[in-house]
Amino acid sequence: MATTLVLDASSGAPLHEQLYQSLRTAMVTGRLPSGTRLPATRALAEQLDLSRNTVMTAYTRLLAEGYLVGRHGSGTYVADELPERALSARRVQAPPSARRANPPSLSRRGAALAALPPPFPSDLGVPGSVMAFRLGVPALDAFPHELWDRLLHQRWRRSWRDVLSQREPRGFLPLREALANYLATSRGVRCGPEQVLIVNGTQQAMSLVAQVLLDPGDAAWVEDPGYPPARSVLLAAGASLVPVPVDAEGLDVEAASRLRPDARLAVVTPSSQQPLGVHMSLRRRRALLEWAGRTNAWVFEDDYDSEFRYVGRPLAALQGLTPDARVIYSGTFGKVLSPSLRLGYLVVPEELIEVFVKAKTLADVRSPSLEQAVLTDFINQGHFSRHLRRMRVLYAERQALLVEEARRELRGLLEVGPAETGMHLVGWLPPGVDDRTASERAAAAGVVAHPLSVYRLQTLGRGGLLLGYAAVPGPECSEGVRRLRQALG
Ligand SMILES: Cc1ncc(COP(=O)(O)O)c(C=O)c1O
Repeated sequence: MATTLVLDASSGAPLHEQLYQSLRTAMVTGRLPSGTRLPATRALAEQLDLSRNTVMTAYTRLLAEGYLVGRHGSGTYVADELPERALSARRVQAPPSARRANPPSLSRRGAALAALPPPFPSDLGVPGSVMAFRLGVPALDAFPHELWDRLLHQRWRRSWRDVLSQREPRGFLPLREALANYLATSRGVRCGPEQVLIVNGTQQAMSLVAQVLLDPGDAAWVEDPGYPPARSVLLAAGASLVPVPVDAEGLDVEAASRLRPDARLAVVTPSSQQPLGVHMSLRRRRALLEWAGRTNAWVFEDDYDSEFRYVGRPLAALQGLTPDARVIYSGTFGKVLSPSLRLGYLVVPEELIEVFVKAKTLADVRSPSLEQAVLTDFINQGHFSRHLRRMRVLYAERQALLVEEARRELRGLLEVGPAETGMHLVGWLPPGVDDRTASERAAAAGVVAHPLSVYRLQTLGRGGLLLGYAAVPGPECSEGVRRLRQALG
């Protein structure tokens, strides 16, 4: 059994936590089937070269959570029914009469929410300290924390009263001015600061868009494959999803117009399609804007990681392509700084700004002001552009290392080529290999590798694994690739 358990003394996560996660993953993925007898704590401690206490701590937690059962006098066994299965079985198996007799008191919207799949792909049971190959996480090891600390203290010392009395629902004006300026010069976005609305990340941006622009039953085009949390937001608003195939030119606007020309909204990632990384061609961009103009529909442009382009000149945003583009543009600091900051921005056409401000105010009044003020200083003092330049270099290096390691170690198992943009690569599995199984195997080997099929709705295609590299320092990347080889070999 010891060979199925992956522990890493250098990872920083406590060994009992790693052992717990490893055992749990092995049980959930069926590598340790129900009824298996686990070695005695002393024996496992010896096999893994751990202290007995470490093993006991992991066992005790698994016993308490119901993954293991102790049979008096005969040892510890994997439970007949794991907590995950028990929960889903109960949901599926409740007879309809029982459900009717005891309905939870939810609104129809609440019930629809409860029925949605989890909006974010799970961590697959890999310990949180493992960075290889987490998606969407920037290089936390390169976060300018000392500078941030200094700016934070300066702000607080110098203007805590202003920070505490900030009441502007659109967000801190100097930040909106700095952003309007940055977006005009770097992204070709047409806007003034009055059109910028500070939000708590793209997730809130999408939620406001769905609330303001969609009625239940309205059709919305989504990229297929595409970003699952965007789909969840639309479903939660009662929209009817229209999965539109993506090819080398991005979302296929012609196909979408044939499928549902009457859609009210198109949600797109034109600079760096999530997850395939392609950018939308000029021809398609024009076709999309033409469709929105002709049918009075809206386009939501999710420009989530446009800052990370490694080849050629940055591509301008869709929003700025024509003067009256029916585009709601959104960006986030989640990729350039940290998703935990929960800060992003919307650029809204003038005729919509008032209603968006109302929706934001009703949602949460406004975004926290201290972080906004610090971010303003970070941008205006030139740190933001410096940080971006450094991150572009770092991520290009990290991407090149992943490609190189994968070419050397994963030949015939996973085809990983370079990408011009983004923070992850798509690794293509050999035809016929199931990516969910491959992802589970990778997780059991201690590596996060989300399956591409989670991003697909209707399109079929070769299985793939998504490998985030931005947050993965060199040695961890090499180790992660080695583990992937074990898992996929
Ligand atoms: C397509 C897409 N949009 C937006 C985001 C970021 O969202 P947020 O700003 O809510 O963290 C991500 C993060 O992975 C993403 O993949």
